[in-house]
Amino acid sequence: MRLQGKIALVTGGARGIGLAIAKAFVAEGAIPVIADINEQGAGQALDELGASDGLALAVNVAEAASVHGMVQAIVDRYGRVDILVNNAGIGGNTPFLDITPEEWNRTISINLTGAFFVAQACAREMVKHRSGKIINIASLSGQRGGHGRAAYGAAKAGLELLTKVMAVELAESCINVNNIAPGAIETEMAKFAHDQATRAAYNYLIPMTRYGTPEEIADAAVFLSSDESRYIHGHTLNVDGGFRAAGLMFRGDKAAPSS
Ligand SMILES: NC(=O)c1ccc[n+]([C@@H]2O[C@H](COP(=O)([O-])OP(=O)(O)OC[C@H]3O[C@@H](n4cnc5c(N)ncnc54)[C@H](O)[C@@H]3O)[C@@H](O)[C@H]2O)c1
Repeated sequence: MRLQGKIALVTGGARGIGLAIAKAFVAEGAIPVIADINEQGAGQALDELGASDGLALAVNVAEAASVHGMVQAIVDRYGRVDILVNNAGIGGNTPFLDITPEEWNRTISINLTGAFFVAQACAREMVKHRSGKIINIASLSGQRGGHGRAAYGAAKAGLELLTKVMAVELAESCINVNNIAPGAIETEMAKFAHDQATRAAYNYLIPMTRYGTPEEIADAAVFLSSDESRYIHGHTLNVDGGFRAAGLMFRGDKAAPSS
């Protein structure tokens, strides 16, 4: 019970990685706040958690007023936010030459500006208590030049840098800020964005030869939310089966997907 009694906000918690994180938090004694643009999904997720206390809230992270309403609702109920997991996001797989201004702006506004709005609003509460944990969910696509990842990757790279700036500025307020960069994780987003060829390429390029699970991200989120990670600050933890580490991969038994 490493998170006993902690008020833990997970944005985009209605499904996928966010829902798995919320489940792991509840197992460690946290009080979950599930906030999602899918209000019904947030409510169902909270029911699924079976926690004795908790909140389900509607939010569009890309709208500052909506974000402030969400944080106010948490403060009205609990008086504080102890843990934020900035997880809400959308995928994107459009080639660089085809991406429209609308798609670019939508991706940046949810995946980067939205994460900024939520982090700033929560941190403004956390500074009052001189305590807090913020975990941003970025992506390996923010570190490597994946095909079709212009807007998505730029947003996630921006989020990694934002994590560092927040870590520098918020340390004096005892707010601990880190970043998790998942590799390919088996969720609805991946099912939508990854066709068979993409899947074959990932399975070849990942040393562990498989997609990760939402629960494997959740385990990292629990660690970074707990006191055990107190001196880890401004760090990006890749949870990717070795995808970032890999260079030349010679697999005598397995052909590269393009051959
Ligand atoms: N699945 C992967 O392979 C993978 C890899 C790297 C990073 N990520 C990141 O992990 C996070 C979660 O991804 P997932 O695979 O669980 O996705 P998902 O699509 O299954 O879940 C995303 C959730 O965010 C919510 N959401 C979307 N836009 C929102 C908005 N404007 N305001 C509030 N909520 C909103 C959705 O309703 C949904 O419940 C995302 O930030 C994603 O970029 C995922």
